[in-house]
Amino acid sequence: MSRLDYVIVLAAGEGTRMKSTTPKVLHAIAGQSLVGHVLTAVEALAPAEVRVVIGSGRELVEEHLSKISPASLPIVQEHRGGTGHAVQLALAGAEIKGTVLVVAGDTPLLSSSTLRQLIAVHNEGGQAATVLTAELPDPTGYGRIIRADNGDLLKIVEERDADESEREIEEINSGVYVFDLSKLHRVINQLTDDNAQSELYLTQVIEILRKEGDRVVPILTPDAVEILGVNDRVQLAECAAIMRDQINDSFMRVGVTMVDPTTTWIDTSVKIAADVTIFPGTALIGATTISEGSVIGPRTTLVDCDVMTKATVLESYCIGATIGEGASVGPFTYLRPGAKLGTKSRTGAFVEMKNSTLGDGSKVPHLTYVGDATIGVGTNIGASTVFVNYDGVDKHHIEIGDHVRIGSDTMLIAPISVGDGAYTAAGSVITESVPAGAIGVGRARQRNVLGWVLRKRKGTESEKAALAAEAAQAKDASSEKGK
Ligand code: UD1
Ligand code: CA
Repeated sequence: MSRLDYVIVLAAGEGTRMKSTTPKVLHAIAGQSLVGHVLTAVEALAPAEVRVVIGSGRELVEEHLSKISPASLPIVQEHRGGTGHAVQLALAGAEIKGTVLVVAGDTPLLSSSTLRQLIAVHNEGGQAATVLTAELPDPTGYGRIIRADNGDLLKIVEERDADESEREIEEINSGVYVFDLSKLHRVINQLTDDNAQSELYLTQVIEILRKEGDRVVPILTPDAVEILGVNDRVQLAECAAIMRDQINDSFMRVGVTMVDPTTTWIDTSVKIAADVTIFPGTALIGATTISEGSVIGPRTTLVDCDVMTKATVLESYCIGATIGEGASVGPFTYLRPGAKLGTKSRTGAFVEMKNSTLGDGSKVPHLTYVGDATIGVGTNIGASTVFVNYDGVDKHHIEIGDHVRIGSDTMLIAPISVGDGAYTAAGSVITESVPAGAIGVGRARQRNVLGWVLRKRKGTESEKAALAAEAAQAKDASSEKGK
């Protein structure tokens, strides 16, 4: 690849049309900020240095940059002086010779392969500048490309400064440029603000270079979609949908089945193996990985989860969980950080689990909360069990052994343990540990108060039913006697 010395990312604009307290370039699609997408694309080109011009919301943007691209250098533009002004600031102290790529921070679909081609064309041609252009059926709002007879770029006219015939031009300036650094240095301080916005336009550089006898070459991109910028939330959604389709297409091409790719949303950071099937309404977010043969969805959200081979997760919300090989989750399971499900284990409807390990082959099928627990292998947790892990001040641990049977509606009051092979009686409140092989019974003995309804609920349907049952019993008894 040809050498690239600098990348300048212009990201100081206000993004007024987003109507947001979040700086525009920090809005995210596919799990990554707009500026993050741009940085990912340019960093793939291995430039010697990346400079990001920031201004609006700069504390937030700077903090974000320090996380996602610590090597990049933030350049502060206090007041919006135009794209030319931003580049003036970014060039301060830069090397005198080399190649520089200028991009905007709000074009998330720009690919590194397009940038690579642009740089290659620039370096081969030896011109002063190379500009990426696109043909748009509706060029409104963009700078128009005015070509010379030989195809070279004469100048770029902004929409607001264009006359009627110039506005008819469908070829627009993408805002992506490669410059010869020494030539850019030479002309960047000659910009003037005699335009409709009284700003310093970077695009004016083109005319100045031409006047000084340098060539500028426009390169028409085959894929106009790549240069789409985000100025408002409608464009944010458009770019998100395009990126969703790109991501989904690439997964389908390597063997992932998507029943409805239009309702399947996958972050760029997610990894999915072949022969995974994803049903509609599914979102895979953050550092999620899905291994071969698993089935995810419908209507499932996985955030930072690891799903092992041949697991099934349906109609569930899981965050920070590990789902073992062949395990079955849902419908309607809520797995929280630290939930670790063993091989062929199962969690079912209305089960919530956090910071707990469920052993191989163990089951928590229905209506249960499991918090801060270790559960052995082959164990069954009955419906409506609560792991009572919180005493109002501290969290405590519960240890459940192998092949345990926890009866339905058991309250397990932490800290306790239930030994291997032990049982608890349904409806128990277990406050003390249950030894291996024992049954823990922690409930009041039942007493029946005979005739209570006949005395206390006179005139009700219950009384009628009870009287009828009594009469029937008496009749049965007398006919038995008559035999
Ligand atoms: C710019 C181009 C236009 C092109 C379009 C492509 C100019 C004068 N016009 O117009 O020809 O068709 O991009 O999308 O360059 N920025 C700063 N500091 C500033 C001003 C802008 O950092 O003082 C940043 C913005 O945050 C943005 C980028 O530069 O990321 C472009 O600025 P914007 O105001 O969006 O320019 P456009 O009017 O879209
Ligand atoms: Ca713009």
